[in-house]
Amino acid sequence: MKVLVTGWAWYIWSHTVVQLILSGYEVVIVDDLSAGKIEVIDRIEKITKKRPIFVQWDCGDSAVLSQIFKNHDIDGIIHFAAYKSVGESCNDPFAYYDNNIHGTIQLCKTALEYWVRNFIFSSSCTVYDMSRASSPFDETMPTWGTLNPYGTTKFVMEQIFRDLSNWKWLQGCMLRYFNPVGCHPSGFIGEDPSTPPTNLLPVIFQALTGQREKLLVFGNDYNTPDGTCLRDYIHVMDVADAHVLALQKLLDADIGPYTVINIWTWVPTSVQEMIHMVQDVTRKIVPYEVVERRNGDAMTVFGNTQLAKKILWRSAQYTVRDAVAHTWKFIQDKKL
Ligand code: UD1
Repeated sequence: MKVLVTGWAWYIWSHTVVQLILSGYEVVIVDDLSAGKIEVIDRIEKITKKRPIFVQWDCGDSAVLSQIFKNHDIDGIIHFAAYKSVGESCNDPFAYYDNNIHGTIQLCKTALEYWVRNFIFSSSCTVYDMSRASSPFDETMPTWGTLNPYGTTKFVMEQIFRDLSNWKWLQGCMLRYFNPVGCHPSGFIGEDPSTPPTNLLPVIFQALTGQREKLLVFGNDYNTPDGTCLRDYIHVMDVADAHVLALQKLLDADIGPYTVINIWTWVPTSVQEMIHMVQDVTRKIVPYEVVERRNGDAMTVFGNTQLAKKILWRSAQYTVRDAVAHTWKFIQDKKL
């Protein structure tokens, strides 16, 4: 079986490609590497002993996609390619609409011309309407009412797959996750954003390693046990495995033509707990200061994982502490 993986900012896709190859899939990757590094392919080869086919181009370019579909007998597509910074999307919404939505339309149009019908979409719990739904989130809860253009594009992309599956054009499985953390246990691949990170764990590690003066903790006056926000952090290897398992189900026609699954752990961790965990694992101090709450932050976000267990027959294999330990290994080894 051959899979096309569309990527941007190689963090989650690189881990998924490793698990795909180790599960016996042939992989073709398309990513323009505007937010990544070519060395990641060497690292994937080092872990899997196989080199995936890599096309360095924008996956919204239908001419290049056509060429890929002509040259390769693709059985399914895992679509990661999307910009993903909330703040950036508020400053430049059209870049997000264009890249994420238009790119998805081009991909679907071209794939369907070549009768490639199986899609796994890397979605996000940002599609839930936080004003009408609350933790633990489950897949039946209301969506839309997104808080930013990034969330809007994820919602619209899900709707495109929903429409197309309703009209029997394709089969789509939407994997909704929120806070993937950690990296491959070998430490060979991990998260190394090309722009300054804004997510909690990378920021904590930057503060710990002196790449920034300190971590700013956005509020400790929430109605939670230690006053800081709670999130459902999931190890990126569990997220990667979920893509492989969902793809197998889709290719075996073991799930419906349009399926939505939360890929979470159901275990909330607070910002304060995360700081303690990092200090405990690394035996180093994280310099931090508590500041005002961040605009648009939800107090508590964690997910119900019953459906994932039922459909994919698995729950998370790794803990948040594993994610911290693996990230520390990645940072200490030579980074990409
Ligand atoms: C954010 C995005 C979400 C995206 C997810 C994964 C928003 C509103 N949501 O989620 O759409 O899917 O990242 O990329 O941005 N924190 C600090 N100091 C920091 C950074 C974070 O205290 O410097 C706190 C935040 O207040 C929050 C928690 O850490 O309580 C997690 O924040 P973050 O990693 O940015 O993820 P989310 O906001 O949950």
